[in-house]
Amino acid sequence: MKVTNAEFVKSAFALEHLPQDGRREIAFLGRSNVGKSSLLNSLLGRKGLARTSNTPGRTQSINFFLVNERFYFVDLPGYGYAKVSKSMRQDWGKMAEEYLNDRKELSLFVQLIDARHEPTELDLQLRDWLSHHGKNTVVVATKADKLSSNQLTKSLHQIRSHFGSIPVIAYSSETGKGRDELWKAIGTALA
Ligand code: GTP
Ligand code: MG
Repeated sequence: MKVTNAEFVKSAFALEHLPQDGRREIAFLGRSNVGKSSLLNSLLGRKGLARTSNTPGRTQSINFFLVNERFYFVDLPGYGYAKVSKSMRQDWGKMAEEYLNDRKELSLFVQLIDARHEPTELDLQLRDWLSHHGKNTVVVATKADKLSSNQLTKSLHQIRSHFGSIPVIAYSSETGKGRDELWKAIGTALA
């Protein structure tokens, strides 16, 4: 897909503040610091559109980016940082969970996993939640540039073993690796 226009529209801190125009949405989900905002910028080819940082927990609100005036990319707060707690509900905030649960406009859930590590307990909880609710999901293994090609092959194999039939795409926001493949999946979800 050719990105002709990408703009930040709003940060929602409450469910009443979500866009009301009925356009479809692609959500980016994953633990804090996994690379959600970087992935979004890389896909859009707009450095700095979504804020990135070395400080985990940078993204606190649900942030909407309008693409080609046609659909939204949605940058969510990362889970697994704010509190030491077992339950994703407590860790992650009620608003994000309600948004993911109820939002009719959501066409694709992009779950990010750090390619360098095994999925965490919270990653697996999110996987189970998405599959239980029958959500259309694709997994992105982030920071692929930090691994050798051998390590990456191993890591993808391991991640895939946790995700069954869900597609897993290796991605690097530094090099753009995986960009075309992920856009294809997004295009299919929107078609
Ligand atoms: P929160 O908003 O805190 O949940 O984090 P996030 O998931 O949005 O992560 P963010 O995009 O802010 O990236 C976190 C850090 O990882 C930043 O220092 C990024 O530069 C770095 N990073 C993200 N993606 C990549 C990647 O593909 N390769 C490399 N080498 N670094 C990356
Ligand atoms: Mg972020």
